[in-house]
Amino acid sequence: MSSASSGADTAWVDEAIKHLSTLVDSDLPGWSRIGFSEQDAAARDWIHQQMLELGLDVRTDPVGNVIGRLEGQDPNAPDIVIGSHSDTVPGGGRFDGIVGVVGALEVVRVLQRSNIRLRHGLRVVDFSNEEGNPQGIKLVGSRAVAGTLGPEALAASDEEGRTLAALMASGGRSPQEVGSARWNRRDIAAYLELHIEQGPRLEAAGASIGVVTRICGISTFVLDVHGRRDHAGTTPMSTRADALCCAADAVLAVQRIAASSDDGVGTVGAVTTTSPLTNTISEEARVTGEFRSADETDLEELLQTFAGTLPALDARHGTRTDLAWKMDPPAIMDEALSDLVAEAARRAGHDALRLYSGATHDSVEMSAMAPSAMIFVPSVGGRSHCPEEWTDLADIGRGIDVLTQAVRLRDDLP
Ligand code: GLV
Ligand code: MN
Ligand code: MN
Repeated sequence: MSSASSGADTAWVDEAIKHLSTLVDSDLPGWSRIGFSEQDAAARDWIHQQMLELGLDVRTDPVGNVIGRLEGQDPNAPDIVIGSHSDTVPGGGRFDGIVGVVGALEVVRVLQRSNIRLRHGLRVVDFSNEEGNPQGIKLVGSRAVAGTLGPEALAASDEEGRTLAALMASGGRSPQEVGSARWNRRDIAAYLELHIEQGPRLEAAGASIGVVTRICGISTFVLDVHGRRDHAGTTPMSTRADALCCAADAVLAVQRIAASSDDGVGTVGAVTTTSPLTNTISEEARVTGEFRSADETDLEELLQTFAGTLPALDARHGTRTDLAWKMDPPAIMDEALSDLVAEAARRAGHDALRLYSGATHDSVEMSAMAPSAMIFVPSVGGRSHCPEEWTDLADIGRGIDVLTQAVRLRDDLP
């Protein structure tokens, strides 16, 4: 490795994060830049422009991934990839994903300021729609890159029957060309993602840097409850088949099952009814939710336990339930690359804390393509997916310094 690089320019990083926080939907709470919205396109155009100004070879692919490449000295060496996502959840914050994208741009700036030319190409990416959509598909851009955004995912539909493909097209993207967004794994040496922790452990431990061991698996479910429509004033309580009451019991079952598991969590996203009227008993209700766990067997068990409680709920409420789910298994980060990140942290003066991620990340998809590792920086109060989400600029700067070091250490390997 050649001479030491300068540190991150946190003033530029601050300005970039602040600028992105202006490209949001003002009709929604917090800092909302939803995948395939007008504001999402504006942010991606801005990032594309930043990459051009850095002299990268830039393209925005058919699904909205913005990809910039800095040529390396060895044209035969595969690329080191760094980045994250710039979309947010509705009502989200200013840092989730954004720190990894702005941080990756700053790594390029640090290398350029320090006149360091890597041997490998450096690919900087802002992945499209990591946070998912009403169609229930997360990690859209990284799935496209990994070749796992297939016809079934593109045909997934929301409550109104609108498909993911239609949503993408409405945002100016070209889902019919998804195949051309796919990367060749032989071209990728490693993926490194800087991200905020979104939980309380780094802060509690007084640690500045985390290295992720594994990322949660997620079982997403849709529970349809079929009851009987009846008059709310004349039907005795004892003879009702109230779909909404069964749904309410199912919500609490999710909470109970997850709370009594070792490390699982369970969350309901929505409960809807086809008859939102006080004078009519609900005939149909739908509950959407998810379980998460670090362990695939535990995840399966959470879902099976939930499925096992439904006959009793049906018996209690006189209803019939249908449960559908899909499971995305946990992803394990590459051990050697994670050790390299910990070494990068050590060189930057930090003892890295190894920790599990209960949030999902583009690293899940990338880990199937290439050795992948994640660097976490602290979230104040552990808060995330809320307007109060905050990470101190000094911590972001430390994370970028570790990412820069990690890129350089990885560059020294074949
Ligand atoms: C995204 O942040 C998720 O964990 O769902
Ligand atoms: Mn994120
Ligand atoms: Mn998120």
